[in-house]
Amino acid sequence: MLDNAPKLPPEIARRRTFAIIAHPDAGKTTLTEKFLLFGGAIQMAGQVRAKGEARRTRSDFLKMEQDRGISVSASAMSFEYKEFRFNLVDTPGHSDFSEDTYRTLTAVDAAIMVIDGAKGVESQTRKLFEVCRLRDLPILTFCNKMDRESRDTFDIIDEIQENLAIDVAPASWPIGSGKDFLGAYDLLNDRLEIMDRADRNKVAESVQIKGLDDPKLEEHIPADQLAKLREEIEMARELLPAFDRASFLNGSMTPIWFGSAINSFGVKELMDGIGTYGPEPQPQKAAERPVDAGEPKVTGFVFKVQANMDPKHRDRVAFVRLASGHFERGMKMLHVRSKKPMAVTNPVLFLAADRELADEAYAGDIIGIPNHGQLRIGDALTEGETLRFTGIPSFAPELLQSVRATDPMKAKHLEKALMQFAEEGAAKVFKPMIGSGFIVGVVGALQFEVLASRIELEYGIPVRFEGSAFSSARWISGDEAEIEKLVNVNKQHIGTDNDGDLVFLTRLQWDIDRVVRDYPGVKLTATKELM
Ligand code: G4P
Repeated sequence: MLDNAPKLPPEIARRRTFAIIAHPDAGKTTLTEKFLLFGGAIQMAGQVRAKGEARRTRSDFLKMEQDRGISVSASAMSFEYKEFRFNLVDTPGHSDFSEDTYRTLTAVDAAIMVIDGAKGVESQTRKLFEVCRLRDLPILTFCNKMDRESRDTFDIIDEIQENLAIDVAPASWPIGSGKDFLGAYDLLNDRLEIMDRADRNKVAESVQIKGLDDPKLEEHIPADQLAKLREEIEMARELLPAFDRASFLNGSMTPIWFGSAINSFGVKELMDGIGTYGPEPQPQKAAERPVDAGEPKVTGFVFKVQANMDPKHRDRVAFVRLASGHFERGMKMLHVRSKKPMAVTNPVLFLAADRELADEAYAGDIIGIPNHGQLRIGDALTEGETLRFTGIPSFAPELLQSVRATDPMKAKHLEKALMQFAEEGAAKVFKPMIGSGFIVGVVGALQFEVLASRIELEYGIPVRFEGSAFSSARWISGDEAEIEKLVNVNKQHIGTDNDGDLVFLTRLQWDIDRVVRDYPGVKLTATKELM
């Protein structure tokens, strides 16, 4: 990436904003917890889950998360590590929540890919990796669970190289696996790291070594394992590329560390890796111009809206990635979409312990802005300039179902609930011109269940999702006279989305083809631009 770019102010340059991607069960939660532990944000391991429990009592919808063992909501956590400020943005793990995941990944500058040393690249790893690749995000790989019987190191590296088409440079080399796992040789710093099996939260003992011939190695590694290590590293140096920062930053090479998150092994080396090699907060693309993190004026964009974090207040929090500048509490920002000023008086920083009022924040940080629905996904905030940040994807709803309240008296409240979830980006909601009721569109089937569960828990409305007469939705744009004609003769196919924009609803591709043919001035699109 931009080694030749102008230097960023130090407060911004020290920021690292990243996400962890992993197939469920690879160890993302455990690794997150260790990050927070070493970042001083929690005092003992186990608090992340404990905190989850406490949150659950506040927001019951998370019961679903607990029951299914999936992470539905994404959040951001900030903590200090050495001279760096880390902003870790959590991505929901389940494939049905990929919309949210995609959007989350627009807010980060890098990703850590966690793989299980026994399983290698799994389906969800691959999917998430592809999303990162779309944005050329730099990726650091952590091969976890080396304390269990793992696959051959070369095998794992080959699999990543071949499956994901990315160069892999070993940053460390494991010494044994399973019960023979001793630790790793740090190839970037010529150090030997020895795992402490007695205390899972203790950081590994580190021994400075002068190369692989250093006799000190013999004091720590049994002869047969040492011979194997020497041989493997020699082979690795011959066969595998050496770490190259520029290739890492442009997304074509991933450094890999081998460790065991639960034993706190390899975690600090990984954290040092992100700190040392970056990236710093990157320029963000806007339709008008790229926005550099070092620009003095504050700009940012909403990449996620989460409602009912506190059900008592029915609040919504818009998660904003600051793209540039130094933000201070109370600043008057321009809400670009509505062209209205917005005083940001109570922004929240997600310090790991709890939410806290943010007095200031810098480019790269994620702040939460409580609001009553003005802020939507994709919205830009600036100090006056009209900017539209691009790259936040909108997804075509692939599954449509109609929804109704089992108690007809509650139909009105249902509309409110649906509109709110639509704003959050949790679903698309359509109101057909003919008939009553709503059609809900999602990307993954599990989203219906989550919605049903949330509508009941957060609004007290039991609902039922049912098959709908329609299976696809297309947004209508183009020549106004033609649109009017189309609407008038196709009322049974027309609806509006939650913003009041027109959509064409159908079950048959044939209908879509017919409109395209008969109304050349009308455009039907599968997604709607968010900005
Ligand atoms: P996820 O968020 O990616 O889904 O994974 P999570 O951290 O929850 O880890 C999944 C399981 O793998 C957990 O076990 C966790 O303890 C275990 N694990 C994580 N890192 C390591 C490691 O380095 N070595 C070994 N051996 N296991 C590891 P669990 O039995 O599902 O949960 P728990 O009862 O331990 O909490």
